[in-house]
Amino acid sequence: MLLLPLLPHQAPAKPPLPPGQLLFQQNCVRCHGANGKRGLNGAHDLTKSNLNDFGRTYLVVNGMGKMPAFGKKLTAAQVQQVVAYSLTLR
Ligand code: HEC
Repeated sequence: MLLLPLLPHQAPAKPPLPPGQLLFQQNCVRCHGANGKRGLNGAHDLTKSNLNDFGRTYLVVNGMGKMPAFGKKLTAAQVQQVVAYSLTLR
């Protein structure tokens, strides 16, 4: 009887999430939602935000109202990554 070669089962490796997206899921989704539209506790719809890179960075670092400050939790590079990701939400 012919035995099929026993290939080790190789699930295609999932590409890792881009760091900004991962940071967004860890820090922002609970209020803003995965698509930026959740709006919990008056969180603004990020897809409608007119804030640019600079404004978002300031807000994420310093917080505003019910939006927590992330300046102590995230490094400057992480803030930049998560802000860049937030700008891709449409
Ligand atoms: C505890 C809930 C909460 C979390 C967590 C949170 N936000 Fe917010 N976010 C808010 C609220 C509330 C506002 C509205 C603040 C205001 O104007 O008083 C806001 C506003 C914003 C705005 C401004 C939108 C605009 O144009 O007015 C940006 C950008 C933003 N958040 C990005 C983020 C990012 C990026 C993260 C993760 C690093 C995050 N937020 C995490 C609650 C949250």
